[in-house]
Amino acid sequence: MQDKKKDFPIFKYNNNLVYLDSAATSQRPQSVIDALKNFYERDNANIHRGIYTLSERATEKYNQARKKVAEFINANENEIILTKNTTESLNLLSYTLHGILPKNKTEIVLTEMEHHSNLVPWQQFAKRNNLKLKFIPITDNYELDYSHAEKIINEKTAFVSMTHVSNVFGTINDIEKIISLSHKKNALVIIDAAQSITHIPIDVKKLDADFLAFSSHKMFGPTGVGILYGKKNLLDKLPPFLFGGGMIENVSYDFSTFIQSPEKFEAGTQNYGEVIALTAAVEYIQNKSLHVISAHEKELLSYAIENLKKIKGIKIYNPGINKSISVLSFTINGGHPHDIAAILNEENIAIRAGHHCCMPLMKKLKIPGTCRVSLSIFNTKEDIDRLITSITKVKTTLQLQ
Ligand SMILES: Cc1ncc(COP(=O)(O)O)c(C=O)c1O
Repeated sequence: MQDKKKDFPIFKYNNNLVYLDSAATSQRPQSVIDALKNFYERDNANIHRGIYTLSERATEKYNQARKKVAEFINANENEIILTKNTTESLNLLSYTLHGILPKNKTEIVLTEMEHHSNLVPWQQFAKRNNLKLKFIPITDNYELDYSHAEKIINEKTAFVSMTHVSNVFGTINDIEKIISLSHKKNALVIIDAAQSITHIPIDVKKLDADFLAFSSHKMFGPTGVGILYGKKNLLDKLPPFLFGGGMIENVSYDFSTFIQSPEKFEAGTQNYGEVIALTAAVEYIQNKSLHVISAHEKELLSYAIENLKKIKGIKIYNPGINKSISVLSFTINGGHPHDIAAILNEENIAIRAGHHCCMPLMKKLKIPGTCRVSLSIFNTKEDIDRLITSITKVKTTLQLQ
């Protein structure tokens, strides 16, 4: 693939930067930055409110953005709720879902590789509603143990909430299998697509997921925008999450009624400028093609694994190139991940080190954390070469064997 760094102004202002932390947040292409700037310069007015041209134009662009996102995952427009981030999308569900769950359902199934955003809200939910949490374990190859999943997803399961792609290992989970298994037991399925949305084409209709959450900032879009997809019939049954302006039908001093979803879930002034610029991010991905992006990342991931493996003392946490996408973790014998990342930073290489918001997973692996490399469209083999050469320097500096 032709070098895509030129699309991203961050590389113009940070000479020689090797950015290997796209799983934390993407860099933004010029087209997205321009879309945000252009909107505030030319079209800004609060949406839904004004009976004047500027507000109508802003509202139209906001609605277009919702439509664009819906199209991207093959959903209907009224199945897309705009939130702040994946975390808020999952919290929205954790504050509203209890009302639609049958009373004989007493268990929630998660996996051992969930990000805190898809674990802590459900711990709180379980406490509030007196449900029990169960976990699909991971195998020694950093995959889910599907035979165990078949045992714990049963008639008692209210819902399964799981990540599509692990933010630590890059493992692509077989969500189709879990969705089919869960639906047979009359359990709902929530998919955390934060780490898959820019790497794997998602068709919610084909997938038959009940809910799916992701963040704009991990897909080249602005910060402050999250997406929650939900099947229309389910969204209609859920009560609102936040209350206030923008989501009401009729208000009196002691009683209010609410409009339909998705607006029912969008109280108050939204991050409408950022939502509108998300359109440019989706267009960027569509223009480049997700298949091309993921093929490029796969090639780089394979190159990275192949070369990292040659370094003595390194341990790689990744299930293999055919079972993962764009992310790998590693540790080096005797080196703390923070020290490794700090020394790599001196070489202008940005990686992530720590528990990656997966503390229980780190405890299970019996390590304080890992170094994580995550890839995007703009990364090159030269970036990986720089990483490999610099790790050799890290080992010398830290006197590792
Ligand atoms: C798998 C996964 N889920 C959820 C999140 C939370 O995303 P956000 O911080 O945008 O809410 C992340 C962020 O890294 C993630 O990797």
